[in-house]
Amino acid sequence: MFIKGIHLRNFRNYKTLDLDFSDSFNILYGENAQGKTNILEAIYLCASGRSHRTPRDNELIKFGENYYYIKIELVRENIEYEIEIQYEINSKKRIKINEVPQKKIGTLMGKLNAVMFSPEDLLIIKEGPSERRRFIDISISQLKPSYFYDLQQYSKILAQRNTLLKNIQENKALFDTLEVWNENLVKTGSRIIKSRKEFIKTLSSIAEEKHGKLTDYKEKLNLKYVSSVKIDGIDSLEDIEGIFRKTLKNSLTKEIYKGTTLSGPQRDDIEILLNENNAKLYGSQGQQRTAVLSLKLSEVEIMRRDSNEFPVLLLDDVMSELDSSRQEFLFENLDDVQGFITGTEYGLFIGRKMKGNKLFHVQNGQVELLKGE
Ligand SMILES: Nc1ncnc2c1ncn2[C@@H]1O[C@H](COP(=O)(O)OP(=O)(O)O)[C@@H](O)[C@H]1O
Ligand SMILES: [Mg+2]
Repeated sequence: MFIKGIHLRNFRNYKTLDLDFSDSFNILYGENAQGKTNILEAIYLCASGRSHRTPRDNELIKFGENYYYIKIELVRENIEYEIEIQYEINSKKRIKINEVPQKKIGTLMGKLNAVMFSPEDLLIIKEGPSERRRFIDISISQLKPSYFYDLQQYSKILAQRNTLLKNIQENKALFDTLEVWNENLVKTGSRIIKSRKEFIKTLSSIAEEKHGKLTDYKEKLNLKYVSSVKIDGIDSLEDIEGIFRKTLKNSLTKEIYKGTTLSGPQRDDIEILLNENNAKLYGSQGQQRTAVLSLKLSEVEIMRRDSNEFPVLLLDDVMSELDSSRQEFLFENLDDVQGFITGTEYGLFIGRKMKGNKLFHVQNGQVELLKGE
């Protein structure tokens, strides 16, 4: 799939921007703080429903304005789609696909698939479990809109159940209402756990292969889903539900005492292992970087297998961070892919697959096409 064009109004530092893209590489270069990442952010927003930098849409509105608007023209299996997102200050995003208003953000999922590579990806390894959950949640959501709905649903159920647990401390009569929330939590939560477990299994096997190639088979990369619900060796939805139900039952007294839910997907983590050791604890900076690159390339491969088309790749300031052999490997993986590549220079791309590429210079919210037609 590829993006033919983008139109921005009052988005970040763009008053108006209308660009046509190449279906090959689009290189956006310019000094820092000129608006390169802002363009990638707008594309990512249309793919995943949210910015990769902030959960607050108000921040995306150009200073002093009261709305932003993004339109993307997309070609997927030779069919053209138009995605529009409009957001007015302090309201909800309004989404249109082919001019038809959509009731839910979830309908965006699976239309435009995009994978972002950025220096912050290292946080997937370095930070706590929530970064890792975010990474897989966004990937699975793009593949499976129903997963996105389950996540939204689950966080509502969880919030209600936690409020209830706190209130039971004061008012024991509320105890009887807990059962309904337990069951909602178990049903939705188990679907999430099952999807994650399956996704991580596939991701792990592809990542092992990618990482092997990247390290001359000196390092083995593996992933493991570590759940607060003890589901090792358990695969069927029914069995996961059963164990989740039992876990809740066993920890009920403790949960009421603490006033919060102590097990479920919100507590889970993904262990990233290099030669069987935890990459977060034992990996060097360089090893962690390579591992993240393998993970991201694997995400791309999973999306390609799923839809028979490559996702759009957003490479934000990552080229300069990679040594030449990693760069080569990345380029090998970029054949037949539409890529948006930002950097402060473009020397790296000279002589490389230049046919069909476009080179843009970004300066202070203005974009100028330098090469390509
Ligand atoms: N809501 C906003 N309105 C206007 N300008 C903004 C807004 N948010 C960020 N900016 C500006 O956008 C620029 C940063 O853009 P960015 O795309 O991150 O830069 P880079 O080219 O380094 O990737 C900064 O100059 C910042 O002040
Ligand atoms: Mg940037």
